[in-house]
This record gives sequence, C-alpha cells and structure tokens, in this order.
Amino acid sequence: MPKISIVTFLSEEVPLIINACEFFPIKKELELEIICPYEDTLKYKADNLHLTGLNNFAALPVPTPQNICFFASPASFLYYCKQENINSSLLYVHPDLAVLELKGNRPFLTDLAAYDLRPCVLEGDPAENLYDKKEELIYFEDFPQFIEGKKPNNVLISTNFRFVEILVNIDNENWELFHPELNYRNLCVTNGKPYNLLLCAQKQLLNMSRPLDDIYDLAGVRFCKKNNTSAYSFFAEHYDDYMAQVDYTLWVNNVLNWFKKYSSLQLSKILELACGTANVSIQLVQKGYNVTACDNSIDMLKAAANKPVKPKLYYAALTDPIPDNNCQLVLCMFDSINYLTQTKQIAVLLKEVSLALATGGLFIFDISTWENSIDNFAHLCDLHRYNDGLMVHQAYFNSAQLIQLSTLHFFKKNPLGYSYQFEQHQQRVYYSYELIEIIHNSPLKLIAIHSSDITKNLYPRHLTGIDVKFSRLFFILQKE
Ligand SMILES: C[S@@+](CC[C@H](N)C(=O)[O-])C[C@H]1O[C@@H](n2cnc3c(N)ncnc32)[C@H](O)[C@@H]1O
Repeated sequence: MPKISIVTFLSEEVPLIINACEFFPIKKELELEIICPYEDTLKYKADNLHLTGLNNFAALPVPTPQNICFFASPASFLYYCKQENINSSLLYVHPDLAVLELKGNRPFLTDLAAYDLRPCVLEGDPAENLYDKKEELIYFEDFPQFIEGKKPNNVLISTNFRFVEILVNIDNENWELFHPELNYRNLCVTNGKPYNLLLCAQKQLLNMSRPLDDIYDLAGVRFCKKNNTSAYSFFAEHYDDYMAQVDYTLWVNNVLNWFKKYSSLQLSKILELACGTANVSIQLVQKGYNVTACDNSIDMLKAAANKPVKPKLYYAALTDPIPDNNCQLVLCMFDSINYLTQTKQIAVLLKEVSLALATGGLFIFDISTWENSIDNFAHLCDLHRYNDGLMVHQAYFNSAQLIQLSTLHFFKKNPLGYSYQFEQHQQRVYYSYELIEIIHNSPLKLIAIHSSDITKNLYPRHLTGIDVKFSRLFFILQKE
C-alpha cells in the first residue's frame, strides 16, 4: 500500500501533523504514518493515521516511489542531523528555480547529474569545494547571469545562507524544501501550509500517471506543483469575503422548501458535496440537521473547519464514492457542478449520489448558465483589494467549447514586497437539455427545475430559452 511517513523529533509537532492530516479519509488506499520517539505522543488518536514509535534513529524509513517520507519541520531534521552527525544540506525547489544550500564543511557526495540535474555555482562561492564531482559544475559570474541562462533542471549550489534566505523569502509561498542526502521532503508544519504538500504527495502516490523515480526529479516535483495551482487554494482565504453578497440564508430556506414540496421523507441526514467553506452546511447544522460535507480543496475544508459551528468534514472529489448512505438530501451548491467539465463525470456523480440517497430522497444542485457566462464572465478583468494583498481576476468564456476560464493572480504582501500566487478555475457551461439527457440515463429522476423563483417549476413545460433567460438554474432529482 502506498504510504506517506512523517518523522518528527519534537513532541509538540505531533498535534500539528495530526491537524495537517485531518481531512485524508483514504485509509484503504494510502497509509499515513507518524514516526516519533516519544511514547507519550502515541496516545494521540487519529482515525486516518498510524502512530509509530522510534527507538533507533537509524531505523528511519527509506523513501521509495511508493513511500514518500517527510520531516515534519526543518527543526526536526536538524535534530536528526546532529544526532547522526550527518550533513544538513537543504534543497529548495520553486516552480522556476532550485537552490541547494550546502552546510558545514563536509563534502556533498550525491551526484546531481545522476538525477538529470545540472549543478551550477556562482564564481567565488566556496560551494565549489564542497561538491564532490567538481568537473560537473557549471559556473556563472553572478546571480543575474544564472537567471538569464537558467534551464529547467539547473540547481544553484551555494554556501551563502543569507543569499538563500533572501531568495526564499521573496516568494516563500512557492518553495518546497527537500533533504537531498536522505531523499526526504519537509512538511514545514510549523510555518508552511503542510496540507498542500501532503495533498501533492498524495496525488503523486495515487493519481499521477508517471510515477516519480525519485524526489530529486525536479520536473516531477514541478509537475505536482503545477497540479497544485488547482482552484481554491490561496483563494480559500478570501472566498467568504468574495461571496459576501450571497444570501446563503435564502438559499438554505429555498432548499428546505423544495424538500418539503417534493419529498415525503422526514429530513434529518444531509450530505453536501463541494461544500467549500461550508456556508450552506453550517446553517443546516444550526437548524439541527445531521450534516456531513466534503470538498476536494483542503484549503476550503480548513477554512470551514476553523468556523465555530461546522458539519463533519472530509476530503473528496465530486466523482468519488460516497461513504454515507440513507441520506434524505444531497446538495451541491453554487455552480460546483460546473467544475465537472465532462458529461461522463456528471454521470458518475449521479450514480454515486443515487447510492448515497434513501429512497424518496432528493439531490438538489444548481448550475451557472450560458447567460451568466455571457453577461458576467465573458471578458472580465477586475482588481480586488484585501488586507493582505491584491488580486487580479481575469475571466474568459469560450462559447464554442462552453468553457468558462477564470484566472486569479494574487500579490500577497510580505516584509520584502509581494509574493505571487496563481490559480486557475475551469468550468463547463451546460445547456439544460444536456443535463436533462444525462439525468434521464441515470438512476435518478428529474422532478423539477427552478430559477431563483422558487415557486415556478420550469420542467417539463417551460424549458424554451431557459439557458439564456436565467443566470442560475436549480435541478431537483429524486431517488425513486
Ligand atoms: C463556487 S464554490 C462553492 C462552494 C459552496 N458549495 C458554496 O456554496 O459556497 C465551488 C466549490 O467546488 C469545489 N470543487 C470544484 N471541483 C470539485 C471537484 N471535482 N470535487 C469536489 N469539489 C470540487 C471547490 O473546491 C469549491 O469549494
């Protein structure tokens, strides 16, 4: 079974790791293991985690393509190096750059060229004397010359920790830290966004078509990073601000009214898919319902988990099998369905939802229509100001392919200036007739389509032109 092992030597890091692993309910596909030498920490209980004691330092797991190993933090790594008397070199990987900081005065023996990497050094940097295979070194006069001639697999080797520190601080969001001698990654539980790295590792272990030979494989790491610019990463922090105009209370009331109107079941158990920051679910919890909610953005789940009242939360994609069954109501709100860009994904979702629903239960979802894309997101470039930075939102609607593309560029203030973050949202605009056909071929029955006018059911008699008349349509499906 593929495994992620996280090593810590500091007992206070254990709860931070457990917290970072909180939404990974994939015990059966992937094992998550914490390794630490303190017996008292083994008392922590976490459903999806294995806690392993460590009596002998030399017994650390050896990374393989099936076992990605992390140190919990640079501090844990340094502790280990001191105990074992080994080099503590650090490899920083950025989507555009890689820098290897050599520490101490022992030679660095790993041959970077064996991993298709090109070791580079600035003239006069003592790093040249520490790199074992000197004949492989590529020399640059200074940093601007290195940047100008940079190739994807160049690694700049340096002993100048101040220089490396400045480089890393300029864009600290986007660096990932490795320990090249051990082939370990670093989770940075104390100051980073560990769940993104875990997610990246999880993707690497479970989904990537090309298994990585080694974590030195910068191209592979960058590939993962690229994947990780997925929607709702940094934007999660700003989502609730962005949605401040949305009247979630009205939405929840509409949903409950439709449930009363179309289902004869007593409502108690609700599942919300693609719940985001759980604004809908939270109101349902407050009304006393038993609510579970999931999303495939860890950052959105974290934002939800930080709220005082919340549903049970877990990590899942819309097309994943649903662990729950016998729900009276399944919801998927605020055009989350549009994120499924292929009709076959919607068919999978409907099948999974039908398995999760009780007979007579409802699946309610909404879509953003052609009208909404043409009117509001066809050619947009907006600037948003937040306390911690600026965001540029660009939107483009490809009406031939029915693809709505949004790019978010965030310039986050930091002590040295701004760091840049980027994410892309791709949605498919569906004509209602397409969805009606997919639903007809699914185990669920379409019983109503509403616009925001909740009383008038447009299905089946008032369908003409609905995609251009309304910006949002709500579909109500039943398990018979
Ligand atoms: C517009 S937000 C809506 C969030 C929430 N339902 C609401 O009403 O505020 C879209 C949500 O869909 C989630 N999402 C997008 N694609 C997804 C997928 N394939 N599986 C699960 N969630 C997905 C995103 O992470 C995001 O939280």
